Amino acid sequence: MGTRYVYIPLLILLILIPAGRYYVSWSKSGSGAGLYSHEWQPEAIQGYWHPKAFYTSVKSIVGEYTGEECVSCHEAVTPGIVSDWRQSGHSQPANNQGKVYCSSCHGNDHQNLHLPTPEICGGCHTNQHDQFLDERRFGFPSHALAMERAIDAKHFVDKPKSEVTACLQCHSVASKCDSCHTRHRFSAAEARRPEACITCHSGPPHPDDATYFASAHGQRYLKDGDNWDWSKPLSKGNYEVPTCAYCHMSDGKHQVADKPIWKFGIKQVNPLSSGNEIKRQQWIALCSDCHEADWSADRLREMDAERKQAWAKLYEAEAILKSLRSDSLLHPAAGERPPYPNDWLDSLFPREHIGFLEGQASAFYNVSPIERDYFEMWYFDNLGAYKGAAHGASSFVEKGHAGMEQALSKIKAEAKTLRMLGESEQRKTGKRSAPGEHWLKGEYTEFNKEHN
Ligand code: HEC
Ligand code: HEC
Ligand code: HEC
Ligand code: HEC
Ligand code: HEC
Ligand code: HEC
Ligand code: HEC
Ligand code: HEC
Repeated sequence: MGTRYVYIPLLILLILIPAGRYYVSWSKSGSGAGLYSHEWQPEAIQGYWHPKAFYTSVKSIVGEYTGEECVSCHEAVTPGIVSDWRQSGHSQPANNQGKVYCSSCHGNDHQNLHLPTPEICGGCHTNQHDQFLDERRFGFPSHALAMERAIDAKHFVDKPKSEVTACLQCHSVASKCDSCHTRHRFSAAEARRPEACITCHSGPPHPDDATYFASAHGQRYLKDGDNWDWSKPLSKGNYEVPTCAYCHMSDGKHQVADKPIWKFGIKQVNPLSSGNEIKRQQWIALCSDCHEADWSADRLREMDAERKQAWAKLYEAEAILKSLRSDSLLHPAAGERPPYPNDWLDSLFPREHIGFLEGQASAFYNVSPIERDYFEMWYFDNLGAYKGAAHGASSFVEKGHAGMEQALSKIKAEAKTLRMLGESEQRKTGKRSAPGEHWLKGEYTEFNKEHN
């Protein structure tokens, strides 16, 4: 009799595991890429941002060419590219190494060109490529995982195409190596400067540029940086103040996820866990290239204290939203907004969406004003304050916290109004009205379905 309790779950597992695997591999087999590949079509430009998945060679030029032949024809076709290449280490390698021609990266056959993925660079630059791949073990966020992070995001497939095409431009940091040392100069000196990072690390959810330039480090860089010798590696003694790469890729290590504790600032972490203690010691060692160790440890403790304060405010706002939800005063409630494509679990068992990740995916649109206020508090004010604390830009800490206070009082006032309206409705009609089809049938919703 008792064996039934063993073999029935076992049987269910035996069915579920292969079914799950089959489902995941099916979901990646569509014309797009990632978990929702059946829901979207790539644009031509995305072949450049994610070449392994989408690039197909031009067919207009026929023939196989030597490196010198590529250069001489392209001298006329794309003179800028050839001139950049001529200035690069690839055209003028040290120590009698052979030149690295166009064909070394793109192939010889013009009807079968490829755009170089990290593996192709890794064929010659093993160290950097290995370090880059090894970064995966730190999980999200990280450069090595950036592409899947974007294409597996639910809002990536659900928003109108034109709003999400460019996600892959920034998240291509995972799928090609020319993000920081741009083609075709491929200059290490360029990558050492902060400008190399801010094409992507800017804007309200990640104001790394603004917070760095407002810091003591950034100010010194702005004043004197043009006079420094950028051919020197990013190690102790070579620079008076650090740049982005000095701190996040110290000693030229091709990893950015090995030190950060707070993970983008979008969720609360325990900064004192044993794993984070290791990261903290690495930060302190780095600051100690120039500052005193104890002083540096204090700066990191101040960042933790700022985070604690921020999360107290965010949790207070979350609690207000959750209590409105449990009293059925917050619409759209679960099941009242359209599920994301492929989200069959959510269609069958609609779940509430408040807070980390749920908040991230749902709160961009199809939400009520009070939820949007919470989203902005969390995604803009909070993240601005975090980056201010991380980068030593106190004005951003102040501004971020003032913004969170303001948002919190607005949320409280809105909650009060919703409760008042709810109660008076209850008194008058004995029930509360539901929003009906309002959120399910919106124009924006239909539009999305047709335009991906
Ligand atoms: C006879 C002239 C000629 C030669 C030789 C030549 N190319 Fe091109 N290449 C072109 C032209 C023209 C285009 C633009 C084709 C188009 O847009 O349809 C082009 C385009 C390209 C592109 C861009 C492809 C894309 O999809 O954006 C790459 C990369 C490229 N060539 C690399 C090479 C390499 C590598 C060699 C040597 C193996 C080479 N070319 C030799 C004329 C040439
Ligand atoms: C060290 C490797 C490397 C070498 C050498 C190289 N390229 Fe490229 N090339 C790249 C990378 C990386 C890209 C960007 C690919 C992408 O967007 O996915 C690129 C893109 C291109 C493109 C298309 C995008 C654009 O900017 O128009 C052309 C055309 C091109 N290369 C031509 C050349 C020519 C001509 C040469 C030789 C003078 C050359 N490449 C040498 C790595 C290289
Ligand atoms: C065929 C081998 C080969 C391939 C493929 C290759 N490189 Fe290089 N790379 C070299 C050589 C050789 C040098 C020059 C080294 C020197 O001067 O000591 C170099 C130098 C560099 C430098 C340093 C330049 C400087 O300013 O010091 C960077 C950055 C670089 N490569 C990036 C890349 C990237 C990114 C790719 C792929 C898009 C790539 N390389 C593909 C061989 C290669
Ligand atoms: C301007 C460049 C840029 C664009 C455009 C961009 N991102 Fe990002 N994204 C970033 C950066 C930089 C981070 C990491 C910020 C940090 O760690 O502070 C990030 C983080 C993320 C994260 C969270 C990472 C994590 O592990 O928690 C997700 C998810 C994401 N992006 C998805 C998207 C989607 C979907 C789009 C398009 C709607 C998009 N991104 C557009 C630069 C960009
Ligand atoms: C082409 C766009 C691009 C460029 C250029 C770029 N990054 Fe990023 N970076 C991203 C994206 C996208 C993410 C978020 C990845 C994810 O969602 O997992 C990210 C994440 C990060 C993170 C977060 C890692 C963590 O563990 O939290 C750090 C730190 C970082 N980048 C530093 C840098 C530095 C320093 C530079 C310049 C030397 C730079 N990045 C250049 C796109 C870029
Ligand atoms: C987030 C920015 C960023 C990305 C992405 C990136 N690099 Fe770099 N790269 C740098 C920086 C910064 C340096 C200078 C390091 C130093 O000062 O030692 C550099 C230097 C290099 C060098 C020269 C090393 C030397 O000692 O001269 C090579 C080669 C290189 N990178 C290859 C790659 C390859 C291959 C990839 C893709 C797997 C890649 N890079 C992606 C930022 C980046
Ligand atoms: C003085 C060293 C230093 C400099 C310079 C610096 N950062 Fe940071 N950065 C930090 C520290 C410390 C943190 C907090 C990380 C943590 O939570 O442990 C951080 C956090 C980040 C994060 C979020 C990482 C995460 O997951 O929490 C990103 C992204 C980032 N910096 C990018 C940049 C960019 C881009 C620049 C240049 C414009 C830059 N940083 C300049 C030290 C520096
Ligand atoms: C390459 C040298 C260097 C490194 C590495 C460095 N700093 Fe600095 N830092 C400076 C210099 C120079 C100044 C400006 C002079 C001063 O205030 O000491 C400065 C100023 C500061 C200031 C402003 C001080 C004030 O009194 O207003 C803070 C905060 C700071 N650094 C924090 C850090 C932290 C935290 C780290 C490590 C994550 C770090 N620094 C890494 C060189 C460095």
